[in-house]
Amino acid sequence: MEFLQGRALNNAIGNLNIQGAYADALSKLGHELEDIVEQEKDAALGNGGLGRLASCFLDSMATLNLPAWGYGLRYRYGLFKQRITKEGQEEIAEDWLEKFSPWVVVRHGVVFPVRFFGHVQVNPDGSRKWVGGEIVQALAYDVPIPGYKTKNTISLRLWEARASAEDFNLFQFNDGQYESAAQLHTRAQQICAVLYPGDATEEGKLLRLKQQLFVCSASLQDIILRFKERRTGKGSGKWSEFPSKVAVQLNDTHPTLAIPELMTIAYTNHTVLPEALEKWSQTVMWKLLLRHMEIIEEIDKRFIALISSSWTDLESMLPSMCILDNDPKKPVVRMANLCVVSSHTFQNKTNGITPPRWLRFCSPELSNIITKWLKTDQWFTKLDQLVGLRKFADNADFQTEWASAKMANKQPLAWYILQVTGVSIDSSSLFDIQVNRIHEYKRQLLNILGAVYRYKKLKEMSPEERKNTTPRTVMVGRKAFATYTNAKRIVKLVNDVGAVVNSDPEVNNYLKVVFVPNYNVSVAEMLIPGSELSQHISTAGMEASGTSSMKFALNGCLIIGTLDGANVEIREEIGDENFFLFGATADDSPRLRKDRENGLFKPDPRFEEAKKFIRSGAFGSYDYNPLLDSMEGNTGYGRGDYFLVGHDFSSYLDAQKRVDEAYK
Ligand code: GLC
Repeated sequence: MEFLQGRALNNAIGNLNIQGAYADALSKLGHELEDIVEQEKDAALGNGGLGRLASCFLDSMATLNLPAWGYGLRYRYGLFKQRITKEGQEEIAEDWLEKFSPWVVVRHGVVFPVRFFGHVQVNPDGSRKWVGGEIVQALAYDVPIPGYKTKNTISLRLWEARASAEDFNLFQFNDGQYESAAQLHTRAQQICAVLYPGDATEEGKLLRLKQQLFVCSASLQDIILRFKERRTGKGSGKWSEFPSKVAVQLNDTHPTLAIPELMTIAYTNHTVLPEALEKWSQTVMWKLLLRHMEIIEEIDKRFIALISSSWTDLESMLPSMCILDNDPKKPVVRMANLCVVSSHTFQNKTNGITPPRWLRFCSPELSNIITKWLKTDQWFTKLDQLVGLRKFADNADFQTEWASAKMANKQPLAWYILQVTGVSIDSSSLFDIQVNRIHEYKRQLLNILGAVYRYKKLKEMSPEERKNTTPRTVMVGRKAFATYTNAKRIVKLVNDVGAVVNSDPEVNNYLKVVFVPNYNVSVAEMLIPGSELSQHISTAGMEASGTSSMKFALNGCLIIGTLDGANVEIREEIGDENFFLFGATADDSPRLRKDRENGLFKPDPRFEEAKKFIRSGAFGSYDYNPLLDSMEGNTGYGRGDYFLVGHDFSSYLDAQKRVDEAYK
């Protein structure tokens, strides 16, 4: 359901290794490559790490010469455009297809019908068939994904929903009933209108489910047809060979409906946060997907029978393991359970990123230095060759070149920040960046409380004392989900703190706080190469992986972070001298929450001071109490400081002190 592609031009000419020739050709036509690149809108058909991971997979699969396909939806409006106003974040529909996009190629010959609603017809032989209902056509569009230094180019196939001409009621239209004449067309258009339509209403839920079935059904029909055509050139593939020729990998639970459609699948789970584990109301499912529900019931029945007959020691766990939760008040289908039960393997894989985009193309300066010192450019595809740089770590020439590459990336970043925010930042200050999805578990709040505390201390210092501090520019960016109130409050707080700190002549040579608006892949490609410290500070145990940390580390940025997700392995690779570790461990967290519940938590006075300073109105009159209150009290998810900001605050400040020293 999600691909966070970003721009295509630079990536394509980079992968073909023709940047120079391309730039020359453009310049003969009177254009600069950079200006042309800027014309392209980001394809933001995704939300965060999960969608970007899918896009990185595509790039890497193309580079590895795998005959892979990506399948998704051609959303008319992808992830919203974020505008920062006095009120905080405002969401605006982002029309990435406003102008013609040469990267999205329509395939008029590739169209499949997708059915919704309808009923089940029982045939005399007992077989069951799904018939009737509403049929929408899925039309294919292909986005080419070129591999790096290979002739292989694969496709991201995006489906668009359409009604057919027959569904247009000419009679009604000529009778002046324009809306009802085109009713099915309007309904079809809704399917691909937006990425993650709000699902608070029944209509919203139905639309989300329609999207999910639509992508699954169209993609599987496409896969099956291709299989059949390849097998005989005419039509009947040998089904027994299908599983050895085709592997279908579900990116999270969103395409779970592929299971009742086809069964043979593998599933990637991206998080265990309860709110992200999809559950669909059985009532809605029965209404829209009658036949699928029959099959899901059957899978559940067989699963329960298998456990009861062969895994009796697990029987007591069946209520939480089975697929259908038949709670009479709220019967739901647990999609992740269906995935786990139906997948053919179970294993852990560390996430990854595609190096050409996240180093070679976004930081040519640094890449050239690496290539020069390693005397090969093979590291683009064999990243472990980077360890070869270790022996130059103390070489003064290498250090100078490395530092100049970093500066070459910081300056355009400073320029960009000035353009989009009006805030002038000092390129020689420490560039400290956090660009995770705005979420309480990612703890942007910890970051901003730290900045607030730093500001307060700077204010209390004498001018002489300030001169001994390490000047810092704290940048935070990313979008808050439109209905996630606390996340939006965090965005507002970062902006309000920035407004006060940045215009305070006493301290603003030593601290700037910037909210980078409308973060997307292209902005990331500029921020990450210019970073020196990056914050990956989630509550231990809550981040499944995190992938931006990999992009930062690859660009020579140090990390301040907790022992969580991919941080654990990154720290092993980059060494603990390059990783400023702090905070509770995942094993500690439950006990710390218990302590909190029992009133045993004694907050660090610095934590109290930072909160009090915000409550005093130092950053404006907006009511931050609900946000700050979420870190008070004793109990509950989202209350009583479930995310342990209070507990980790002191060790966070200590780690930041080590950062300041190291930077000097
Ligand atoms: C989700 C997870 C994140 C992970 C990403 C890709 O966004 O929250 O931890 O890195 O998916 O798997």
